[in-house]
Amino acid sequence: MERLDKFISSMTEYTRSQIKKLALKGKIQVNSEIVKDCSLKIDPESDRIYVCKREITFKEKVYILMNKPDGVVCATQDLRDKTVLDLLSDDVKRKDLFPAGRLDKDTRGMVLITNDGELSHRILSPKKHIPKYYLVRLKENFCEKYAKEFEQGIIIDGGEKCLPAKVRGLENCPDAAFLELFEGKFHQVKRMFAAVENHVESLVRIRMGNLSMPENLESGSYVELLHKDVEKLLKTQSFEEVYNEFDSIFSSYWINKL
Ligand code: URA
Repeated sequence: MERLDKFISSMTEYTRSQIKKLALKGKIQVNSEIVKDCSLKIDPESDRIYVCKREITFKEKVYILMNKPDGVVCATQDLRDKTVLDLLSDDVKRKDLFPAGRLDKDTRGMVLITNDGELSHRILSPKKHIPKYYLVRLKENFCEKYAKEFEQGIIIDGGEKCLPAKVRGLENCPDAAFLELFEGKFHQVKRMFAAVENHVESLVRIRMGNLSMPENLESGSYVELLHKDVEKLLKTQSFEEVYNEFDSIFSSYWINKL
């Protein structure tokens, strides 16, 4: 059993004082009763709770996959820019959500939003070897020699050495590359291509572990992941397999979007 206001506060964006005010206005319902006393004890598993007629369901862990648009930042709050959390509708917003990892403001693509700190750590820690895949549009054509340089662990500006990474060009698109990384240093992809005297014109993250971004997920849209999708995030395949799958199934779709 749990206090009504504590339950609503942990599942939504409402603060306890907002909940108290809503209750006094008769906006909170438990089963078929309007409840004005927020200290009421409820059973989150069996009672049905409504705020302003919207049902608040009990969910411990939440996993949302967003196709981040250009111009939006991966942060929980920002004074100047829209954040990925601002793009969520009220019925999924809750205070404990955060983006698991960062894409730059001008990078698009796959971002995981969750309240699961442990999963986030498993996905982001370079020691856990969960690959992230990027599609890159370059200023100059892709050059085969990049593969060897990235594989050896390229040194980026400031003298930082990157972990070995795999990269390949794409057939029919000489200025694009498909890249696998196991870490996420600040502006890493841009700095890696700068280190080989090229320049990233646009960047999209399209896959993490074995989970690819669904093609029909519009920019700025999101889906809640099922348990089987979350499991895919933690599974891996060889770079060759992922590249071949990408090249045969998705490449023309994504290249048109780059
Ligand atoms: N590397 C970058 O340079 N930017 C990103 O957003 C992600 C990886």
